[in-house]
Amino acid sequence: MQTREKWRSGLGFVLAAAGSAVGLGNLWGFAYRSSQGGGLAFLLLYILVVLVVCLPVLVGEMVLGRSTASSPFLAPVQAAGESWKPLGWLFAISSCGILSFYAVIMGWTADTFFHSLFIGLPVDMVEASDFFGRISSGNSVFVGQIISLVLTGSVVAAGVRGGIERLTRWAMPLLFVLLLILAIWATTLSGSWEGYTSFLFKWDPSQLLDKTTIRNAFTQAFFSLSLGIGIMVAYSSYLDKNNKLPKEALGVASFDTGVGLLAGMITFPIVMSFGLKDVISESTVGALFIALPTGFANLGLIGRLLAAVFFGLAFLAAITSSISLLEVPVSSMIDRLGWTRRKAVWISTFFVFLLGVPSAISLNFLGNMDAVFNVFLILGGFLISILMGWFIPSKYDQDLASSNSDQGVRRYLKFMIRWVSPPVIAFGLIVSVIDLVQGWFA
Ligand code: PFF
Repeated sequence: MQTREKWRSGLGFVLAAAGSAVGLGNLWGFAYRSSQGGGLAFLLLYILVVLVVCLPVLVGEMVLGRSTASSPFLAPVQAAGESWKPLGWLFAISSCGILSFYAVIMGWTADTFFHSLFIGLPVDMVEASDFFGRISSGNSVFVGQIISLVLTGSVVAAGVRGGIERLTRWAMPLLFVLLLILAIWATTLSGSWEGYTSFLFKWDPSQLLDKTTIRNAFTQAFFSLSLGIGIMVAYSSYLDKNNKLPKEALGVASFDTGVGLLAGMITFPIVMSFGLKDVISESTVGALFIALPTGFANLGLIGRLLAAVFFGLAFLAAITSSISLLEVPVSSMIDRLGWTRRKAVWISTFFVFLLGVPSAISLNFLGNMDAVFNVFLILGGFLISILMGWFIPSKYDQDLASSNSDQGVRRYLKFMIRWVSPPVIAFGLIVSVIDLVQGWFA
């Protein structure tokens, strides 16, 4: 049995967890989902879902990892018995499934970064769809996907401290500073105010009851927080007893939401200033890979430089997330099969590559993977809330008590994870499944 690694510091854990949360989901998903008509209603629902249902579940995942000191595959069984085995499988399947298409999008991101620096970006819509066609098809997609997976594997193979913590420690602060600079720059664009008000802050109360907006809010919350997939179980299993998990969970959620908002404050002014309004909500990838490169290109050389900064930071954000996705199967194989970290990393990376081939070839397939696995996350979140709220509530409370978390906070979380999270997530799950299936037959 190998001894279990530990984070160097509590801050290292928080930055790694925030690194997992902040990713393409913030830079691309947030803008795209809020532009699908939801606007401010989407934003409010999203924040409500995060605060009311996701935070207790996030703490739940952390407790599950820390109290069992086990990988996501084994932790549910260790905590509550054999009947919880399927949850471990769900974690393993969801993380491999998501990483398989996530790596493909990372490849497009790297390619766009490369184009910004060395080749040039599209200046109008005709060139833009051509550009997107080029980066999302042919051999370059495989090159991008493989580079992304190999980089991800290398960081995870270097270990929890030597790989994951070492990367996220400098990447997260850098990311935040660059985003802030870009967001400030975006306020100077002529269409900035119109950009905020026509997407992010557009108020239409009827959207609060819209099925797609509700599904978008749930999906964005779970995807963006990396919740319901065992990542936080894996990361917390390397923690000491003295971390105050509720405080750290709140830190991760606030950072993640802040970055989503900042990304919106960059995307929408660019989109508005260059008349690309329709592009963004029409396709899932439109926002990031068609509208933004075109917008930046219209600013000449300086635009290309800013594009390089934006897509460079997007890639950095993506890799701090992809390593967390890979850590789920890797830590599970180390624990379950007794493999070395290196062996577990490269075997799972290869498997994920094969699983991603259909997504690399077909945009349609990729879109369906995204849609289906997002529902898996919500299902995972639901099961965690049932596990922690109904099967082992005393473990949830005891673990928090042992790290001296405030009693009021503990009482609140215990109540929420038992009485509020399960029904609300069940509601979100049902609406999401109906909306997904209706979309297929529409
Ligand atoms: N949270 C990351 C993002 O928003 O891009 C990546 C991610 C990790 C998504 C884990 C989904 C997930 F289950």
